[in-house]
Amino acid sequence: MPEKIKLEKFVDELPIPPILKPRWKNQFYTYYEVNMSEFKQSLHGKLHATTVWGYEGSYPGPTIEVESGEIVFVKWINNLPDKHLFPVDYTVHGAHRDVPEVRTVVHVHGACVESESDGYPEAWFTKGFKQVGPYFRKQIYRYDNCTHACTLWYHDHSLGITRLNVYAGLAGFFLIRDHRERLLNLPSGKYDIPLMIQDKTFNQDGSLYYPKQPEKPVPEIETSIIPEFIGDTILVNGKVHPYLKVEPRKYRFRLLNASNTRFFRIKLDSGQLLYQIGTDGGFMQHPVGVKEIMLSPAERAEVIIDFTNLEGKNIMMTNDAPAPFPTGDPVNENTSTVMQFRVTLPLSSVDTSVIPAYMIPIPQINEQSASRVRYLSLNDNMDRYGREFMLLDNKQWDAPITENPKLGSTEIWYLINITTDTHPIHLHLINFQIIDRRDFDVEKYNKEKIIHYTAQAIPPEPYERGWKDTVRANPNQITRIIMKFGPYTGMYVWHCHILEHEDYEMMRPYIVIR
Ligand code: C2O
Ligand code: CU
Ligand code: CU
Repeated sequence: MPEKIKLEKFVDELPIPPILKPRWKNQFYTYYEVNMSEFKQSLHGKLHATTVWGYEGSYPGPTIEVESGEIVFVKWINNLPDKHLFPVDYTVHGAHRDVPEVRTVVHVHGACVESESDGYPEAWFTKGFKQVGPYFRKQIYRYDNCTHACTLWYHDHSLGITRLNVYAGLAGFFLIRDHRERLLNLPSGKYDIPLMIQDKTFNQDGSLYYPKQPEKPVPEIETSIIPEFIGDTILVNGKVHPYLKVEPRKYRFRLLNASNTRFFRIKLDSGQLLYQIGTDGGFMQHPVGVKEIMLSPAERAEVIIDFTNLEGKNIMMTNDAPAPFPTGDPVNENTSTVMQFRVTLPLSSVDTSVIPAYMIPIPQINEQSASRVRYLSLNDNMDRYGREFMLLDNKQWDAPITENPKLGSTEIWYLINITTDTHPIHLHLINFQIIDRRDFDVEKYNKEKIIHYTAQAIPPEPYERGWKDTVRANPNQITRIIMKFGPYTGMYVWHCHILEHEDYEMMRPYIVIR
């Protein structure tokens, strides 16, 4: 194993990804082209430049900013080398030797999008669209952006190598703005900053490290997928433990956990409150002042942090979530720090922005309106090499489709977690609401397939009360979510957003039918 390296904190300033310019735009449509390529980028001031993959020569990719309802076309172009940057396991679904090693397909996470443009994992394509996967439908994707203002992100979704492609750098922000948002008078412009939080591990020479084998190696296979990847260094917007110079005023931050496996429990070491205004799917009804926010992979939270009267202070954003969550190792000196805010800039003008008392109405979906209830277990299994892997409802990716909601119908899904991990469960296309979480008797369930609750139902956390597309399903609990399927029909997926799980069978197709 190559030697890993420990890096000094707060050496670099936080980069802010550039806003992508469209190729053209008229009164009806906007058109972007986005190239994926391999290049070198400095991820830490005292480290050699690192070979990464990115969009438009940037990791994270440039931010795509659109207006709610704007019709946007994007041509995602693969200009990557033929050889992967990281060890590919040819035994996992979709990554066998019969397909090219480097495949890409882009998914806008949280988007309300037609099925052919959703980035189905088997709709992959190679450089120059030379080879394409069985579900490839079109070169230019269409996004109708039919949701309110929200913080989405785009990332690679190729079957069997998503963990490697995202780890290489293929992720960026996709922001939807709207009129209502502008009326709220939130901190905006340079005071509205997206923060993509990730963990990575570096080799001495500055290259990124991703293991070839799990801790207990699998001798029959040269390169094996690992049960989870935990990096020892935290990056924000592609820099190791950066700092950000701020003015003594309010800022809006869009927090995104874009790690493969690591969860973050975010706090400020000043003891200050984070005023959360948004969840995965946009604004909440009211802001909530919280001491900490839990973010599993792919979850977002929009917060306002008020630095007023804190001139001269350094404030650290910290993390104390064990990894893997919840039973893994505690954080260490390195992974307990995310980034630093330095209140050193003079106030450039009076801060007239506000933390609104009310944002948007969030009507609660009525449980009675559900026409169907699905009981879906999250469970583990053993493959023929003795490796543990995770499944949804005990089914592999290739099993016939079982989740087939009707267009316009409302369903309640019971996510029955009988594993020992918390799994961030994500559904494409729709936003859902969390109804509750409730402890149950796992042993009884395993033996008799009967749900026997052992405690009262717990309502979602205050910071989860809004539109969600990813939910933490904790061990020994049944997590209930409710959603209405639409406005499109067709094939989508639902999966665990721990990328090592998603890549190894913890993903299922689902279809919205007419
Ligand atoms: Cu963020 Cu199916 O993905
Ligand atoms: Cu998604
Ligand atoms: Cu999982």
